[in-house]
Amino acid sequence: MLYPWEFPTRESKIHYFPEVSSTMDIARQKARNGCPDFTIVIAGHQNKGRGRLNRIWKSAVGGLYFTLVLRPRIPVALSSRVSFLASMTLARVLCTFGDLDARVKWPNDILVDERKVSGMLTELEAEADQVNFINIGIGINVNNATGRFEPQAASLKELLGRAVCRRDLLDQFLNEFETRMNRADFDRVVSEWKKHTITLNRQVRIVTRQETSEGLAVDVDDSGALILKMVDGSLKKILYGDCFHQD
Ligand code: BTN
Repeated sequence: MLYPWEFPTRESKIHYFPEVSSTMDIARQKARNGCPDFTIVIAGHQNKGRGRLNRIWKSAVGGLYFTLVLRPRIPVALSSRVSFLASMTLARVLCTFGDLDARVKWPNDILVDERKVSGMLTELEAEADQVNFINIGIGINVNNATGRFEPQAASLKELLGRAVCRRDLLDQFLNEFETRMNRADFDRVVSEWKKHTITLNRQVRIVTRQETSEGLAVDVDDSGALILKMVDGSLKKILYGDCFHQD
């Protein structure tokens, strides 16, 4: 259990549910009903956890599953920077909190030793090109077992050999992320994010439902798109997809 009173300054904005379908569903409802900026929906367990690209996100007890409702006053064009800011912040927090070498895989996965410890899902609603809300859903493998069928995943407990306090981890992430959001230095987000990624200068394969592209990941532009250098030397801009490091 994670109780709202364990986060004294945020108590009124934290909503904890032992079990939900997906924190994204609850958060969307709350956002549409006008909940305040930085509302947090947390679940002990999700029975319909959602991942990117319509995948299922397994949400076993012991992990940390939450969605943040954010209401930044920014145009839709800048919205991807909010998720870049969130993944960069989480990587930094995991480095200091757990003394781990946590890095970001494009766009927003957190890996340690090439194994995925966290994934992020973003949903947005806008009016007249201004963001109404951006919901950022984050799943972190904390004390749950990832199992031998998921060799590319790892939990913090598996990596560190000890259980990790989910309250302290969440508290640290929320504090750092909120400070950075308030600073709203969105111009520098992508360049800072680049310092925390392990995707650049690597051979990658990007898979979408429509196509698979292979190339050298040479840059990420201000919109968050990945720039690939293809075998024929041409540059290709990738807006979304599953990224697999090839080397
Ligand atoms: C991914 O890597 O594919 C993204 C995973 C996002 C999972 C989180 S857990 C909290 C929130 N609720 C969901 O149903 N999904 C996100």
